[in-house]
Amino acid sequence: MRSVRCNELGGPDQLTVEDVEAPVAAAGQVVLEVRAASVNFPDLLTIRGLYQIKAEPPFTPGFEAAGVVTQVGEGVTRLKSGDRVAAFGTVGAFAEQWAVDAGACVRLPDDVSFATGSTMLVAYGTSYHALKQRAELRQGETILVLGAAGGVGSAAVEIGAAMGARVIAAAGSDEKLDFCRSIGATDTINYKTGDLRGELKELTDGRGVDVVYDPIGGDMSELAFRSLAWEGRHLVIGFAAGDIPSLPLNLPLLKGASLVGVFWGAFTQHQPAENRRNVAELFDMVSAGTLAPRISGRFALDDFRDAYRMIEERTVMGKVVLEPAPGS
Ligand SMILES: NC(=O)c1ccc[n+]([C@@H]2O[C@H](COP(=O)([O-])OP(=O)(O)OC[C@H]3O[C@@H](n4cnc5c(N)ncnc54)[C@H](OP(=O)(O)O)[C@@H]3O)[C@@H](O)[C@H]2O)c1
Repeated sequence: MRSVRCNELGGPDQLTVEDVEAPVAAAGQVVLEVRAASVNFPDLLTIRGLYQIKAEPPFTPGFEAAGVVTQVGEGVTRLKSGDRVAAFGTVGAFAEQWAVDAGACVRLPDDVSFATGSTMLVAYGTSYHALKQRAELRQGETILVLGAAGGVGSAAVEIGAAMGARVIAAAGSDEKLDFCRSIGATDTINYKTGDLRGELKELTDGRGVDVVYDPIGGDMSELAFRSLAWEGRHLVIGFAAGDIPSLPLNLPLLKGASLVGVFWGAFTQHQPAENRRNVAELFDMVSAGTLAPRISGRFALDDFRDAYRMIEERTVMGKVVLEPAPGS
């Protein structure tokens, strides 16, 4: 079977597509025929050896995919051949077939496509966990989403709006801001050309925002934290800008505010039942038409570099997916 391979750590240009031996389901695993695999920012970090979970070459990258179960390993009773599922792991999804833990699979409702299903775990799972369990976002609150047109950012915009919040989307181009309005943002700020703090002050009549959703880090984090309202919550999602910022500790004190860490992968391990409930609720929202993940790039396995490029060059709006078996 064909698979993207990382034979040595480095950028996407060092990856290849190779014929490798088809996987066999070990005990507790299933093998999926992959129909869509979602590309996430951490995929760029993993192939460079920069992600918190390290993979030793040679390996097949890819955290999540949706497809059809073709083999069931010993001890797996919850799934059978022919089931449509979405799944996540640490590596392996960018291939025609993927051996993955049965416990990391969730059944796809019939009305959810493979492409949509492949976006629901990492990006939507993270944003829902962040807003629901970590920020305890309440209806009518105001949330600022940084990097709002990207994968987790656009999921936070959609989910925040679905939870009844006023969503202020901040991104780096006017085209991205138009996109954010089309998925539920009420207000937008271009942080490349505008003044984030000044515009937030104006938009909230000086009160500040209740929640900051921050997948960017760098210089933007402190500016956003300083724009929190009393008892605000700043969600630490990631550091797409590259720098892990520091925060003067007088800032949380002065605002009665909280700096709240979010690690979806660890949440799925520590609170699997709660994660399953979250994912079921996300699929319900997709079926009801409340959530509709936008996929701005769909690529065949051989064109995987184009998908990585969209992430690297910051052109993704919504999600980008690989489709090893197009047309399915
Ligand atoms: N905590 C968790 O559990 C969890 C789970 C999944 C992902 N994450 C993290 O969330 C972050 C975003 O992931 P994603 O998959 O949503 O990525 P993405 O789709 O590539 O979006 C990232 C966004 O960040 C902005 N950005 C700012 N500086 C950037 C830079 N130097 N390079 C690239 N983008 C930059 C870009 O928007 P503009 O061009 O508009 O600025 C881009 O749209 C990553 O750090 C990832 O590791 C965390």
